[in-house]
Amino acid sequence: MSNQVKIFDTTLRDGEQALPASLTAKEKLQIALALERLGVDIIEAGFPVSSPGDFQSVQSIAQNVKTATVAGLARALPQDIDACGEALKVAERFRIHTFIATSDIHVDAKLRKSHDEVVEMAVKAVKHARRYTDDVEFSCEDAGRTHIDYLCRMVEAAIRAGATTVNIPDTVGYTTPTEFGGIIQQLFNRVPNIDNAVISVHCHNDLGLAVANSLAAVEQGARQVECTINGIGERAGNCSLEEIAMILQTRQHMLGLQTRIRSQEIHRTSKLVSQLCNMPVQANKAIVGANAFSHSSGIHQDGVLKAQNTYEIMTPESVGINKNNLNLTSRSGRHVIKHRLHELGYQEHDFDLEAVYDAFLKLADKKGQVFDYDLEALLFFDQQKHQQ
Ligand code: KIV
Ligand code: ZN
Repeated sequence: MSNQVKIFDTTLRDGEQALPASLTAKEKLQIALALERLGVDIIEAGFPVSSPGDFQSVQSIAQNVKTATVAGLARALPQDIDACGEALKVAERFRIHTFIATSDIHVDAKLRKSHDEVVEMAVKAVKHARRYTDDVEFSCEDAGRTHIDYLCRMVEAAIRAGATTVNIPDTVGYTTPTEFGGIIQQLFNRVPNIDNAVISVHCHNDLGLAVANSLAAVEQGARQVECTINGIGERAGNCSLEEIAMILQTRQHMLGLQTRIRSQEIHRTSKLVSQLCNMPVQANKAIVGANAFSHSSGIHQDGVLKAQNTYEIMTPESVGINKNNLNLTSRSGRHVIKHRLHELGYQEHDFDLEAVYDAFLKLADKKGQVFDYDLEALLFFDQQKHQQ
């Protein structure tokens, strides 16, 4: 089995559909080009049948993206697949992604069809999509709550009909990592033609487990992860691209897996998506939050100044951030104050460390965070005292 995990980005489809206001076609193209630069394998550009605007923006992304595969979403309906095929045909490489729900609750209450009819629709949809391209993905919506026997039957039928990727979504973010990994393991054990397709996963974050579930799935053989920048998406969002990519990179020796993500592009891509989507990133968000490479406690600050990896498992540079940040607060020690003064260009003989540190602690107790300009003011007062 290959050790390459494909990254399928759905920021512009699942991510965008969760925004209060749609992105413009120009903004979507800007994000698509950033995703291409980031090295994602597949960009899901939109849902062409949903509106003329979405059709045009998928078409424009298909025209402009050169290295990544561009995908469009289609329900298992001929008109959706035709719209996808039309919008995408200008691309260097494209994929039609068709889906139908497979859980009892969706089949009975939403589709109101028999289980046999749903398999038949899936097979027809995949065959229809194959008329446009030999890169067809089929998704079993709500696979996480689908009876395993039916899921196996559906996956086998979709592959036989010509699906080259089969996606197993945890649409409502309901499963736990052991459970979701177990579903993937059962598919590999029970579906006879499983090796003829790439198994993909698409996890939502309703219980905060989207990344953990995606990781459990790749550990069981899934080789495509569907994810979004900053984890944006329906409700609590989707698996976060930056998190799964950095897990696979940081723990590569243990997992033995790799992606094509250029991790140094992560920070700027995250900023672009956050700004264009008007979705601020929480400060303590892994990898891209403002505090992800900030150290506050004196013990930690002292540690990273002695050896960065005491408290950093990846470097800020590896995700495109210039350097870590040591917050100057009353918890900071002398070592970090001295280090910061050196960074600001002051030599040892320019200051009396004990006096400056004493003044720093008094100020920090009053105002919380001490900034570089505060420190320089303290230094200035200290120097004036010595001149008097
Ligand atoms: O969450 C989901 O099931 C989806 C499918 C359309 C793949 O977004
Ligand atoms: Zn989804």
